[in-house]
Amino acid sequence: MVAKIEMNPVRGIRTFPSFPVVMAVVGTEEKNIITLALVHVFSFNPPMIGIGVMPSRYSHELLHRSPDFSVNIPCKELVEETLFCGERSGKDVDKFEETGLTAVPGKRIGSPIIDECIVNLECRKVQVFDTGDHTWFIGEVVCAQTVDNFDRERALLYWAGEFRTLGELIRGR
Ligand SMILES: Cc1cc2nc3c(=O)[nH]c(=O)nc-3n(C[C@H](O)[C@H](O)[C@H](O)COP(=O)(O)O)c2cc1C
Repeated sequence: MVAKIEMNPVRGIRTFPSFPVVMAVVGTEEKNIITLALVHVFSFNPPMIGIGVMPSRYSHELLHRSPDFSVNIPCKELVEETLFCGERSGKDVDKFEETGLTAVPGKRIGSPIIDECIVNLECRKVQVFDTGDHTWFIGEVVCAQTVDNFDRERALLYWAGEFRTLGELIRGR
């Protein structure tokens, strides 16, 4: 048997090797950006994405009020903007103004997308539920856009306080 050390379960779940990191945008007039690592595909067909947001976030209230949100995947060049939107609250600052990121109207939803991101997924809210300390907002992806030269190696990942990009390929198809 492999020797193992038992750890506190709360610390144990922090061993998950890497998360995607996205900037979600919610709201129309009162639009806000929030950086999220709790983001996952909940269904491939129909395409559904869930974002996990703590009730203490300003975006939580906006997400409850809004029928939709966008999920935007930043490239490595946007690391500072991504961090800023994950450290400051829309209660206090206009994150579009402060970061210089560009809000472009969604094609199918009221919430805008972020022009500079390499992927934009427009989501219509279809389910909301609470799990422990987060609320999951599940959205059906009703419009998806990516840059022409989409290169997944430029997409940001996040783990334990560190931003990364994809590493070594261990086995191809
Ligand atoms: C890399 C990173 C990932 C984060 N992931 C989440 C997350 O998944 N859920 C969450 O509620 N907050 C997450 N946060 C924290 C929020 O982004 C942060 O509290 C933000 O200031 C909330 O903004 P708001 O008050 O404008 O909604 C993350 C922050 C960073 C830097």
